[in-house]
Amino acid sequence: MPRTVLVTGATSGIGRAVAARLAADRDGPAARAEVFVTGRHADSVERTAGELGVHGVVCDATDPGQVAALGRRLGPRLDVLVNAAGGLPDPAPADAAPLEALLGQWQEALAQNLLGAVLTTASVQDLLTEGSAVVSIGSIGAERRGGSYGAAKAALAAWNASLSAELGPRGITCNVVSAGYVAGTGFFRGRMTDERHRSLVQETHTKRPGTPDDIAETVSFLASPGARHITGQTLHVNGGAFTTR
Ligand SMILES: NC(=O)c1ccc[n+]([C@@H]2O[C@H](COP(=O)([O-])OP(=O)(O)OC[C@H]3O[C@@H](n4cnc5c(N)ncnc54)[C@H](OP(=O)(O)O)[C@@H]3O)[C@@H](O)[C@H]2O)c1
Repeated sequence: MPRTVLVTGATSGIGRAVAARLAADRDGPAARAEVFVTGRHADSVERTAGELGVHGVVCDATDPGQVAALGRRLGPRLDVLVNAAGGLPDPAPADAAPLEALLGQWQEALAQNLLGAVLTTASVQDLLTEGSAVVSIGSIGAERRGGSYGAAKAALAAWNASLSAELGPRGITCNVVSAGYVAGTGFFRGRMTDERHRSLVQETHTKRPGTPDDIAETVSFLASPGARHITGQTLHVNGGAFTTR
């Protein structure tokens, strides 16, 4: 039976590469995965779904009503959930009171990078079956200098550990793929400078930025039969910019 896959935040960058990679996986000669992709905007969701030959659903991962509706759109079972939706919070409006601005920024960072994954997973977790995988996209920002964004991604990894303990007895694995600097996505919204790019590349051992495909390959492995005893982990994909020892 073909796998059913859901990738949130898949209209661009890492999520899109993951959806394309998992859509190309085949369980057998005729079994192409049924892949669902989400994003907040109908035009980009439709375009991505058409280009990748997958199903598109408009869904803001931070909106409980939309996330509940997404759960109802999927079939009776789900084999792979990838929580890729996320990003940097918007800068506060110039006229906002300082503490209001701070609160708003932290709430947005937490909603975008933690709560979206928590809500989506809760909405679909009864559809996950023995052998299913949940993969959430974390960040090197959780390890250092990450501000509200890094704190939210650190909380994502902490939540993942408890999710793994909860779903492990059902044969479901839960992992975070923590990405270093990945070029060629919408993440920096045009604010990446040549100097910052050079400095981020310099921090790596491989002397290159990550690509969305680097992350997609790791997600594909975690969702494969060879990774069934890897769970509750944070896997760092960053060219050595942060090492675990
Ligand atoms: N690029 C990097 O260097 C880097 C490094 C570490 C971690 N990451 C993480 O990787 C993930 C993907 O980022 P990216 O670099 O691929 O950026 P991206 O190109 O901006 O992709 C973000 C995707 O998420 C969607 N999205 C954003 N908020 C959403 C929401 N609330 N609900 C549903 N979809 C939402 C966006 O579409 P719409 O805006 O149309 O909704 C878009 O499809 C994020 O979790 C990010 O934190 C990125």
